[in-house]
Amino acid sequence: MSDDIILDIQDVTKEFPGVVALNDVSIQIKRGEIHGLCGENGAGKSTLMKILSGVYPYGTYSGNVMYNGKELKLENSAIRQASDLGIAIVHQELTLVPSMTVGENVYLGKEPTDKGTIDWNKIYADTSGILKRYNLGVSARAVIQDLGVGKMQMVEIAKALSENAQVLILDEPTSALTEAEIDKLMSILEILKAHGVTCIYITHKLNEFFRITDNVTVLRDGEKVITLPTPELTEERLVNYMVGRQMKERFPKGHRQPGEVMFQVKDLHAVDPNNPDRSVINGASFDLRRGEILGIAGLMGSGRTELVTTIFGEYGKVTEGEITLEGKSLKIDSARDAIKHGISLVPEDRKKQGLVLIKSILENISLPNLNQFAGFFSLDKDAELDASMKQAKNLSIKAPNLQAYCSSLSGGNQQKVVIAKWLMSRPKILIMDDPTRGVDVGAKYEIYKLMNELAEQGVSIIMISSELEEVLGMSDSIMVMHEGRSNGTLNVADATQEKIMAMATDIA
Ligand SMILES: Nc1ncnc2c1ncn2[C@@H]1O[C@H](COP(=O)(O)OP(=O)(O)OP(=O)(O)O)[C@@H](O)[C@H]1O
Ligand SMILES: [Mg+2]
Repeated sequence: MSDDIILDIQDVTKEFPGVVALNDVSIQIKRGEIHGLCGENGAGKSTLMKILSGVYPYGTYSGNVMYNGKELKLENSAIRQASDLGIAIVHQELTLVPSMTVGENVYLGKEPTDKGTIDWNKIYADTSGILKRYNLGVSARAVIQDLGVGKMQMVEIAKALSENAQVLILDEPTSALTEAEIDKLMSILEILKAHGVTCIYITHKLNEFFRITDNVTVLRDGEKVITLPTPELTEERLVNYMVGRQMKERFPKGHRQPGEVMFQVKDLHAVDPNNPDRSVINGASFDLRRGEILGIAGLMGSGRTELVTTIFGEYGKVTEGEITLEGKSLKIDSARDAIKHGISLVPEDRKKQGLVLIKSILENISLPNLNQFAGFFSLDKDAELDASMKQAKNLSIKAPNLQAYCSSLSGGNQQKVVIAKWLMSRPKILIMDDPTRGVDVGAKYEIYKLMNELAEQGVSIIMISSELEEVLGMSDSIMVMHEGRSNGTLNVADATQEKIMAMATDIA
């Protein structure tokens, strides 16, 4: 093996009960390169990275992993061992402890001590150093639960960077980041690369492969399809390798005709329920017609999630303004109220709000929808199973069967379960907060098709999205938020990326 190969993955196979997650996969990673890893949800990307980082130790897979010319033999629960060897990983799902500070999280499990007591001064000084060096825009003393998802992701990266990393694995690091944060991350990666750090980079945002990687490997159904130098690839070729077929269009055509105004939000103001002095929404208005898809655009932190969770009765305390459904004024104090009125929300953070990981797919999908299956004395199990199967199939959820625990699903497939669950509730108003985050191109297309179908049946949909192409590709009209208020609504026919960005940054 030549010296310039830092990781030589040889014939690796990894099985779970009923699933071959990796089948005889061989990949060579060059020293100092940024190597992209690409594939549909469930293709095996995270599983491979978990082998490299010791989550699945030596002996739980077959094949070899050569690291710097020596066989990598990570022991059970030896995640520390991998990082001591210089392999650091930022996992797909956030792993921070919400009640702790940034500094406590960065040094969790490896706290420096001074004469037997934890050296907090050093922890905060060192953490501040890392945060400053990479300009991550977070304070070392901030408490994690007060940060947005984007900042949390930055802390995860800081945590990995605090190791003396030779290999840095990033499993979908940008799925929750704003454009500006993504730019920042890309420049961090350039700096690391200049220092000789090797990076393995997983993303579902295909344009990022072209921005940052030197080579890309595509996995499909647990098998390696190909490794190619990035300059030899196009987005179209990449998609073909990923899904194994041609995909001509990214957004399916809808045939809907939005009707009368169904739902109105008029000059809504709301404050943080835990801190009534802090305003979270200060003047949001929009109309939503029957069978319309309304996109909500805006930068991270512009109040999009706050607005929809307030409407849903889960977050802000309304101080001013009105919400009406079919002409009647609504007062929504809890998610239960909202659901009763026919409003559903597919939440942003699937792990926290959307999914019970230790329950099966079937239970997760049918749980909020049991009333649909209530027979006279008992639940109609067959109807439940049928309907859930149909949803799972529609979204091509990848699992051995519907009894599988959601904890065993790949990240994108967990997201699909959350969506299936809310699609089953047949709402009048369906609110989707970044519904395709972390979802592969093929499954995105399936979700879009379902959205179109629902809208054609008269469901009104509100979709928050950070991807401008998606907003433009799927919405009938687009409301843009800036600093907690709505900054106007565009008809999609008049909207461009530039106009939306100008409204989102208020430079119009
Ligand atoms: N702990 C587990 N138990 C059982 N099956 C698992 C487990 N972890 C992963 N799998 C299965 O292995 C396959 C590969 O999953 P993996 O998480 O590696 O996919 P991925 O490529 O990272 O997908 P995504 O893009 O959705 O994150 C999937 O079919 C998944 O359901
Ligand atoms: Mg994954």
